[in-house]
Amino acid sequence: MGYISEEARLDIVKRYSPERYEHVKNVVELADHLARLHGADSEKVYAAALVHDIAKDMKEEDMAAILEAAGIFIEKQYHTGNILHGPCAAVIAKKEYNIEDEEILNAIYYHSFGRAGMGLTEKIVFIADAAEKGRTYKNVTKIRKLMYNKLDEAVELSLEGTVYHVLSKGEVLYPVTAAALEYFQEQRIKD
Ligand SMILES: [Fe+2]
Ligand SMILES: [Fe+2]
Repeated sequence: MGYISEEARLDIVKRYSPERYEHVKNVVELADHLARLHGADSEKVYAAALVHDIAKDMKEEDMAAILEAAGIFIEKQYHTGNILHGPCAAVIAKKEYNIEDEEILNAIYYHSFGRAGMGLTEKIVFIADAAEKGRTYKNVTKIRKLMYNKLDEAVELSLEGTVYHVLSKGEVLYPVTAAALEYFQEQRIKD
């Protein structure tokens, strides 16, 4: 079952800048590969991957306004583009493209900062975003090696990178990310 009509797909593609769309295409491609490999719902993964960065180039105050209108509260100290663009994209996905599926909406909402207890669709979009072929940061090779057989460990490593990156830049760490990292560390110790 498709979650995005052809008309909506064309509209979404049009909204991205060419550079941003390159990244989105790469995410869609890797997410599709990972979905097949890990037995996820490819249609859900596709919808989330296609829409995930739709708000990325919006102004922070516009994102904050969209979230407020949708009744989503994020404390002011966490109003950075990085934190707001996923939740804002989830609101747009629901309101403008009629996506109601919780797994898709969560995968969009949490794609940049993660969540404790992420589901399979979320983990795949999260990792595809972090490890698509255009990414070049230090740990990406390690994440790419892990993502085929040890998806949870790939997510953990990526979250660790996010925490390190945020703290080393002196930015405020979103507690949702800290909780997600803790969750995946605990899961690994249990297994
Ligand atoms: Fe993003
Ligand atoms: Fe992205």
